[in-house]
Amino acid sequence: MKTPISLTARLSLLFAGSAACVLLFAGLLFERAANNRFLEHDLEELDGKMALIHEVLGKITSVDAIAALPTRLHDTMTGHPGIAITVATGDGRVLFTVGQSAVVTHLLQGTEIDKPQPVTWSLDKHSYRIVANRVALGIPASQPAKVAIAFDISGDQQFMVEFREFLWFGMVLAALAMGWLAWVAVRQGLSPLNKVSAMMVNISAQRLDMPVPIEGVPRELKELVSSFNTMLARLDDSFRRLSEFSSDIAHELRTPIQNLLVQTEVTLTGECDVIEYRTNLQSNLEEFGRLSRMISDMLFLAKADNRLLVLHRESIDLHSEVTRLFEFYEALASERGIKLTQRGAATAYADRLMLQRAISNLLSNAIRFTPEGRALEVTLGETADHQAMIAVANQGTAIPAEHLPRIFDRLYRVDASRQDGHNENVGLGLAITRSIVEMHKGTISVESGNEWTRFTINLPTDRDGGSAGSPVIGLAA
Ligand SMILES: Nc1ncnc2c1ncn2[C@@H]1O[C@H](COP(=O)(O)OP(=O)(O)OP(=O)(O)O)[C@@H](O)[C@H]1O
Ligand SMILES: [Mg+2]
Repeated sequence: MKTPISLTARLSLLFAGSAACVLLFAGLLFERAANNRFLEHDLEELDGKMALIHEVLGKITSVDAIAALPTRLHDTMTGHPGIAITVATGDGRVLFTVGQSAVVTHLLQGTEIDKPQPVTWSLDKHSYRIVANRVALGIPASQPAKVAIAFDISGDQQFMVEFREFLWFGMVLAALAMGWLAWVAVRQGLSPLNKVSAMMVNISAQRLDMPVPIEGVPRELKELVSSFNTMLARLDDSFRRLSEFSSDIAHELRTPIQNLLVQTEVTLTGECDVIEYRTNLQSNLEEFGRLSRMISDMLFLAKADNRLLVLHRESIDLHSEVTRLFEFYEALASERGIKLTQRGAATAYADRLMLQRAISNLLSNAIRFTPEGRALEVTLGETADHQAMIAVANQGTAIPAEHLPRIFDRLYRVDASRQDGHNENVGLGLAITRSIVEMHKGTISVESGNEWTRFTINLPTDRDGGSAGSPVIGLAA
């Protein structure tokens, strides 16, 4: 892959480029202004001369006076080395000429006569601006004379050529100087970024709890550093949870496997009758069942994390779904004298099996934690933002507030004393429920007060509210 150009180089180039453009623009403006000034000056000169000749010719009132014309013109037109003038009669007789002969010859041809603007003409590396007019003599009914004036503008043009060379050379030099200055300035300006980056480099998995100090960081970088610190805090949290999860898994697996080992060793070494063998195998079977459930729950969570599950969404009438689940839990509930009730109605757009699993996890918890003879109620409804709501509330000891933020964590159980590996429940149910809800782009929350606990799930009600057809997740375990 092509390495992107460094920020310093990019900014220096941009700065130098912009400065060169500004200089070029200024140079072109100046060149135009100088050209205009030269032109104006030439026009003034040419018009002045032409007016003078007009005056002289106007004063010639007789044919005899024509003879004195060269002398009169010569007095006024001398002292201008770059000028050439011809005055001829209407039928081509030359009355007066001054200037370089080749230019005079050209002027005598008179092709540029009476043009509104001066004409430019070049000869032998010299350029001339020419005006040629018909000028009336003072002799009544005589043909007007032809007057042509050429003004050498090679000096001006040479100046412009040198000016252009100077402009280009100066511009290249200025652009290089600007580039270098910009490079120094940008490096200096970006030095806080390097400091921040040096601090970030020192952060390792073991030092995630040490944020980059925000004091002394320039205003523009404060947001970046603060986002980085927020990310660091999240990473730290995830890292901590991950390592706790690994040690919890090891703990959860070690105890039952230890039990299985001991029990199998005892069975093999001792003299047992068939009934004892059967009892031991039965107990092993239960332990294996629990292990197997735990492994498949963890596999489900791992697949959900990696988006390997596929959702098969459909519109689900939550009332009939909850009724079916109540039928399943009816025996267990009535055994403990717990009354299951539901009210309200709602429709969710979800994967049926997944949804059953999520609600079922909440119901089994609720039944487990409802004291005998007390009530459990499921409320269905629609939220203000048109999501389906399923709330599972039960009476019973409240969950202490400090446990609520972690209740959905994997392997997290409120009663730590029961985390000895013998417990039937490993603490994955709520994690799975949350994972299912999040796959559906829904939300789950918990509240617990005096003698009651309520879990609330909000789910999209239709295709638009969810992510049907998008990345996909679904039941496989
Ligand atoms: N309705 C409830 N009332 C009181 N505490 C609850 C309730 N539901 C969950 N809890 C607490 O939250 C913990 C986590 O529940 P979760 O369903 O994740 O795990 P579990 O039920 O212990 O195990 P598993 O669901 O994997 O069999 C429970 O151990 C319990 O302490
Ligand atoms: Mg549970």
